[in-house]
Amino acid sequence: MKVERRNLAEFTTLAVGGPSEIWTVESPEDLERATSAPYRVLGNGSNLLVSDRGVPERVIRLGGVYARGSLGRVRDGNEAHLTPWIGAGVLLPALVQEALQAGLSGLEPLLGIPASVGGAVRMNAGTRYGEIADVLEAVEVFHAGLFHVLDPAELGLEYRTSHLPPGAIVTRVRFRLIPASKKDVATLMSRVDAARKGQPKRKSAGCAFKNPPGDAAGRLIDEAGFKGLRAGSAMISHEHGNFIINTGGASAKDVWKLVKHVQEELNLELEWEIWGELP
Ligand code: FAD
Ligand code: EPU
Repeated sequence: MKVERRNLAEFTTLAVGGPSEIWTVESPEDLERATSAPYRVLGNGSNLLVSDRGVPERVIRLGGVYARGSLGRVRDGNEAHLTPWIGAGVLLPALVQEALQAGLSGLEPLLGIPASVGGAVRMNAGTRYGEIADVLEAVEVFHAGLFHVLDPAELGLEYRTSHLPPGAIVTRVRFRLIPASKKDVATLMSRVDAARKGQPKRKSAGCAFKNPPGDAAGRLIDEAGFKGLRAGSAMISHEHGNFIINTGGASAKDVWKLVKHVQEELNLELEWEIWGELP
């Protein structure tokens, strides 16, 4: 196990966040030690806004056995393929590519989501083509010192959220995928890719706000004329209204000013999770 003090900006896709104690766990014993004091679990940091002062709790990252795993060997035929257990620290984009190469269908809707498997489960990551809940077979969780294997139905997975008990750490996951031709998998992937074309490639944490029922937060922010609004080095993207980007060296305080402005004007629900205290 490695314990180090680092800026969380190095571990978040928005590149924002102050000094914190990072515990990289590699085994069940590490998990037990790391969870013996207050902690938070970090995935790929792609849905987080972290305070410039960092967080006082331990920040647990999954390494070792929890960052390994692959989809496994696929047999021919049309029956569902149950993957081996895959570490929750594995990155989703790697699995999506592996599925394409293996000729396995089910992960295509998740193309382009820069999540870890554990973070994707916690947030029920998805697109309008589908969400991770659709392809989960079983989820292993470490909670209160014990490992539990849960049926996905027990996780309360809903639009961009779940009802995992506070403190529960997703450690491993099994997927249920369908053997398919590479061509079919690639076709659906290119459709999902096309739906992401309007999203900025700059540093961000994805969509900042949830879509209100029947509408799109990006459209509402656009209509309100907020695109291009800046606070320090943070900016509401010109490309997509629901993305706040870090144009270089933005602070959490900058980003938060934009979030508050949008919330006060449009009353949208935040999709991001906030870590630590923001002004
Ligand atoms: P983090 O951001 O690190 O953490 C998010 C939450 O999950 C925190 O509460 C954290 O404690 C918890 N968590 C992380 N790992 C674990 C674990 N192992 N066990 C328990 N809890 C855990 N999201 C979508 O749904 N659809 C999209 O199309 C999409 N597009 C995006 C595009 C870009 C460019 C970016 C930057 C983000 C996008 N997102 C999208 C948002 C983000 O990728 C998802 O919310 C994702 O699920 C977050 O996963 P993560 O591993 O980065 O989690
Ligand atoms: N729109 C505008 N102006 C903008 C942005 C969008 O008018 O600046 C309009 C679009 O023209 C479209 C509608 O709003 O009519 C919806 O936009 P888009 O197709 O870009 O999809 P979205 O609803 O904004 C959702 C998810 C994304 C996911 C895409 C693709 C949410 C909050 N967002 O975006 O997820 O990648 O669909 O399926 O559910 C995320 O959750 O972080 C995320 C990026």
